[in-house]
Formats: sequence, structure tokens, C-alpha cells
Amino acid sequence: MKTLEHLFERNRAWANAVKKHEPEFFTRLSKQQAPEYLWIGCSDSRVPANEIVNLPPGEVFVHRNIANVVVHTDLNCLSVIHFAVEMLRVKHIIVCGHYGCGGIRAALDEQDHGLIDNWLRHIKDVSRFNAERLADLGDQQKTDALCELNVIEQVTNVCNTTIVKHAWRRGAELSVHGWIYGIKDGILKGLVEGVSGSGELEPRLLRALDGV
Ligand code: CO
Repeated sequence: MKTLEHLFERNRAWANAVKKHEPEFFTRLSKQQAPEYLWIGCSDSRVPANEIVNLPPGEVFVHRNIANVVVHTDLNCLSVIHFAVEMLRVKHIIVCGHYGCGGIRAALDEQDHGLIDNWLRHIKDVSRFNAERLADLGDQQKTDALCELNVIEQVTNVCNTTIVKHAWRRGAELSVHGWIYGIKDGILKGLVEGVSGSGELEPRLLRALDGV
């Protein structure tokens, strides 16, 4: 049987290092999680949520999929948002895209990628909604712009979920943010300033679109 013994070894070394730094760390975490942030990001191995913002386990609730898409009827993503907002009462939802996203690139080429093309339709929709804005750009610029536009679109989708709308209606302190991460330099950039209520969505989106 093939084993991944090296990963178990790395795990033990990591757990020991954490305990050395904070002996009660795992005992404390085992009682409850109380993260303030929900992270919706890309599955890309180069964009690990906690590491980028330098936060330890327990601080970030995470949902990742290819190209950080929030589909209106995706029960998986909606359940994560619901749990984060209603049970954990997170204060911030961060949609984080990244430059050089393979999902975004694949959505822009005309090749057949098989099954995933169905998922990438959502990105193609974003490209279609913004066709004029993207029309005169070169390949690289177009990919970068679509990475940004996709974040803005997904922030819109998060804000339009019944979950977030209901939370705002009951007066919850909840903001939705749009960020993008640079794989080349490890730096995060804000694209959509925190939206804290339905009325704030449109002005924030217009300002974000001005920056693309
Ligand atoms: Co990606």
C-alpha cells in the first residue's frame, strides 16, 4: 500500500511546533471556532487563504472552488455562506480572486476542456456582461481584467444571496469585500470596498468597475 508517511511526519512536526509556541492552542480550538472571516477563494494551490493573511487555524472559515465563483444555486457554496453567517456570525465575507487564474484563462480560450467547461460558463458569462470593457484589450490585459471583473461579479452574487440579504435585514454587522491576490508578489489588493448593506452595493460596484 502506498502511504504518504512524509505528510504525517510533517504534520507531527507542525503540531509540535504550534504547541511549543502556545501549549494550549489545540485545547482552546477544540472547544469552539469563532472566526470573523469567511474566505471565498480559488482552489489554486498557490493561493492558500490563511497563509496569505498570516492567520492561524481558527481564524478563517474557507470555501474554495475553481475561479472563486459564487453560483446562485450552488448548494455547497450557499451552505458555507449560511453556516458562516447564521451560526458562526462572521463579520466579513472576502471574495478573493487572483491574477494568472487558470480558470479565467481557460474561460477566455476557445479550446475544449471537457467537464470543467460547464463550470467555466459562469466566467464566460462575466466576460459577456463586460464585453465592451474587454473588447480592445490584449490577451494578458484581458485575462487580468477578467480576473478583477469576476471578483466584482461574485461579490454581487454574495450580496444578492437570501442569506446576506436576510442578515442585513436583521441588522447584522456583516461586510462583503472583493480582493485580488498577486501570485507574482504575494500582495493583496482591494477591489470592492466592504459592502455593509444592500444600499451600498451599487455605489461600491460602480467605483470598483471604474478601477478595472
Ligand atoms: Co484560480
